[in-house]
Amino acid sequence: MVRHDEVITAIMMRLGFLFLVVALLGHTTLKAQEPGNAVTKVILSGFSERAYTHEAVTEEQLNLILECGIKAPSARNLQPWKFTVIQDETTMKEAIGNVVPGNVLIVVSGKVAENGSTPDFDCGLATESMFVAAHSLGLGARIYGSPVGPINNQRELFQIPDGYNAVVVLRIGNVDKTVDAVTAATPRKPSAEIVNFRK
Ligand SMILES: Cc1cc2nc3c(=O)[nH]c(=O)nc-3n(C[C@H](O)[C@H](O)[C@H](O)COP(=O)(O)O)c2cc1C
Repeated sequence: MVRHDEVITAIMMRLGFLFLVVALLGHTTLKAQEPGNAVTKVILSGFSERAYTHEAVTEEQLNLILECGIKAPSARNLQPWKFTVIQDETTMKEAIGNVVPGNVLIVVSGKVAENGSTPDFDCGLATESMFVAAHSLGLGARIYGSPVGPINNQRELFQIPDGYNAVVVLRIGNVDKTVDAVTAATPRKPSAEIVNFRK
């Protein structure tokens, strides 16, 4: 004969299981209702890191980031860019004084403009794709315009291809993950100041 306390235990276990299923389903539903997705979260939580650790960017990460740059759109699909990867500390320091070992610099150079081409704009798109890709891999990244003058004056040292000029430098590296992205991010102008919806 089945004892009363065994019946109670069996019911409790079934209720517990049911509760677990409902909780899991509820969690999935809530997640699906959250605005945004993995890509928008990376973009909205990203900022331009200044402080890097000495942990090296892996070859796999670097190749994936470069692939994302190559995939960027460009006017007439001219792809008017070259990416020069710099990893040795001495040359990196010529461009950005406070680089640390493990950082990687990608000098994005644009082809001297021809009819209908927009090299600077296209280079910007490729750079942003790589900036977002780096963040999506958990790395830090920062875009630099200031080293472009010195780089274009030392084309041989930086191995800038003939017919191209450096447009911007992307720095990538590992970062101290304890830095809070929300407080580290610089503010943006309010949407009302930037966006107008034609009525
Ligand atoms: C085209 C361009 C050039 C930049 N040049 C520099 C630079 O020379 N030095 C620097 O420290 N940051 C530079 N930055 C980074 C910006 O200062 C930074 O993106 C901006 O202040 C917003 O900060 P956040 O990305 O952390 O929100 C540059 C960014 C862009 C897009």
